[in-house]
Order: sequence, then structure tokens, then C-alpha cells
Amino acid sequence: MSDSPSVVRIGVIGFGQWGPNHVRNFGLFEGCEVRRICDSSDARLAAARKFARGVSVTKNPADITEADDIDAVVVATPTGTHHALVRAALLAGKDVLCEKPLARTAAECRELAALAAQHRRVLMVGHVFLYNPAVLHLKTDLDRGELGRIYYMDAVRTNLGPVRSDVGAIYDLASHDISIFNFLLGAEPLEVSATGSSVLQKGIEDVGFLTLHYPGNIVCHAHISWLNPRKVRQLTIVGDHKMAVWDDMNNLEPIRHYDKGVTADHYSSFGEFHMILRDGQITIPKVKMSEPLQQQDADFVDCVRTRRTPVSDARRGLAVVLALEAALESLHHHGRTTRVANP
Ligand SMILES: NC(=O)c1ccc[n+]([C@@H]2O[C@H](COP(=O)([O-])OP(=O)(O)OC[C@H]3O[C@@H](n4cnc5c(N)ncnc54)[C@H](O)[C@@H]3O)[C@@H](O)[C@H]2O)c1
Repeated sequence: MSDSPSVVRIGVIGFGQWGPNHVRNFGLFEGCEVRRICDSSDARLAAARKFARGVSVTKNPADITEADDIDAVVVATPTGTHHALVRAALLAGKDVLCEKPLARTAAECRELAALAAQHRRVLMVGHVFLYNPAVLHLKTDLDRGELGRIYYMDAVRTNLGPVRSDVGAIYDLASHDISIFNFLLGAEPLEVSATGSSVLQKGIEDVGFLTLHYPGNIVCHAHISWLNPRKVRQLTIVGDHKMAVWDDMNNLEPIRHYDKGVTADHYSSFGEFHMILRDGQITIPKVKMSEPLQQQDADFVDCVRTRRTPVSDARRGLAVVLALEAALESLHHHGRTTRVANP
């Protein structure tokens, strides 16, 4: 098998809700073919046969991980299965794109990162928001200092369903927000405190409120839930110069910049001051939206071809899981502030 194949031959493991989106996207790219699809469910294999005519299907993941005619493996199965499947693929010399979160535990993530490095394989984690044009726009804003010094970020990710039973809402949903916070700030949280509750299934939280403390006294909060009447996907960023709101439900005008702020004005020699509110223009930058998953999958193919390390690499995946692990520990201790280990 060549390290820079002219045609990248893909095998997709997991054809549930999300796997078909990968099959569709990889099928669009020049010089890339989906060769095989694996799922443990007969019903899903029947769906795969209809969806991707001519692509062979199997119930056995080894038919993909061990196959000579597969260069790269996409793992889109439930989180608890990621470690074993990714491990098998890396050991067989495949490049891997694994859905988020990379694994259940940080120890598993560390093992996978080490294996990828040892075997010189691409290991990308599907933190798809790092390919969202609005997130990339905000990243440029922050890096240019448009908002000034960042005070805090507040994310809301709620909806009614989809409800999972393999992981709780924190692993499922907050993994997105933590990946976004880490990316935008170019940093990882030091501490987390999380509360929430399990209503529908014992021991599996449906709602979570996470407060993450980042270096530089920056606080990030995420409210996530799959038991909520409204689908909200929103991020507010407050800086000392400007503020921004990203509404991921608004494809035409996803970002608004608010020239708003508060400064303290000293008006006497006795240390008295009053607060001056600045309430200026609201501007809507033009953001050309495209399908983030398509960008992510195209980047994976490019990494396979060029042997480049993806932005969303194993270290980034590990950093997210470290924060998730700490958040669950905090949740189990009623919101106790919990240290997040270094990646
Ligand atoms: N990036 C995103 O926005 C996003 C969105 C949805 C899901 N995801 C991620 O994708 C992954 C899958 O999510 P989903 O919603 O498609 O789940 P799902 O439960 O709908 O589908 C998973 C599929 O994997 C199959 N499966 C389970 N174990 C298997 C195994 N060992 N071998 C082969 N097949 C197996 C199941 O039969 C099922 O069809 C999860 O990691 C999830 O977090 C990411």
C-alpha cells in the first residue's frame, strides 16, 4: 500500500445516522472512492446497499481494517467502540478518521495517539466545527484582536433529541463546545465544574451546565441538552473591545459583531467612578457558508495524500476527552471544581 495513494480507497465503519453523510461526501471527491461499508446491523447494511449501489458491505469490521484494498478507515460507530476499531485500523497500517469523541477515556486516546505516531498514520478526529466557516471567521477575529481581550464565552446547544444511550449529553454535545472553545482560544481548560441531571435514563445525563476555566482568567460556559423544546445553537463571545454572537441556525447571517462595552470612568480624586456604557454599531460580516463535514472529509483525504497532520489531530481529540472526563467527575460530585489534566 502506497503512503500517498493516487486514489484514496475508503472503508466506512458505522452506517447509522451519521455514517451516510461521510459516504456521501467521500463519494464526491476526485481521486477518492468508498470501497466498503461495515455495520453490525442487518437493517443498516440493507440501507447501505440502497444508498451506495456497487459498494460492498460487511458485518465484520476486520473486512475493512485488514483489507489490502483499503487505505483509510472512517469510524462512525458509538463512542464506546471507537478505541478497539481505531486501534485495529492503525495496527493494520490504515489512516483513520474517527468520529468525536475520539474515545471514552483519556488513557485510550493517549494509546491511539501513540500508535498513530509510532506507525506514522494519520489520525484525525471528527471535530467538525473546526471546519465550520463561521467558527473559522471567529477564529480570525479573535486572532486579530477584533474583540480585544476575551472575558468569557457562553454556548447553548439544546434540542429535543436525538437521545443516546451509549453516552450522556455531555460526551455527545459538550464535546462540540469544548472543541470550539479550545480552538478559538488556542488553549485548553485548567478546571471544570459541571452540573446536570439524568431524567430519561438512569446514570445518563440529559442536560449539562459546564463552566470551564481557561488560562488568562477566561471563563467558558456550555449549556447542553437533548431534552429541551427549542433547537438552539448559539455562542456569545464577550471581549473588552467588542462582543460577538454566532447563531449556527442562521445560515445567511451567522455572526453579529456588537460594538458594545462598559468602561469605568474615574471622576473624582477619591477613587469614585461610574460605568460608561458603549452601545455602538452592530455589524454582520459576510460569511460564505459551506458544509463543514465536506470540508473536514476533504481535509482528511488531503492529509492522507500529503501525510500532513490534521488540525483536528489526536492531541486535540485527547484534550477534549480530558475535559469531558473531568466534567463527568465534577458532575458526579455535584459540581465540584475538578482539575483538567494536561494532554
Ligand atoms: N460530528 C457530528 O456532528 C456528529 C453528528 C452525529 C454523530 N456523530 C458521531 O458519530 C458517531 C456515530 O453516531 P450516529 O449518530 O451515527 O450513531 P448511530 O447509533 O445512529 O449509528 C451507529 C452505527 O454503528 C453501528 N455499529 C455499532 N457498533 C458497531 C461495530 N462494532 N461495528 C460496526 N458497526 C457498529 C450501529 O449498528 C449503528 O448503525 C458517534 O461517535 C457520534 O458522536 C458526530
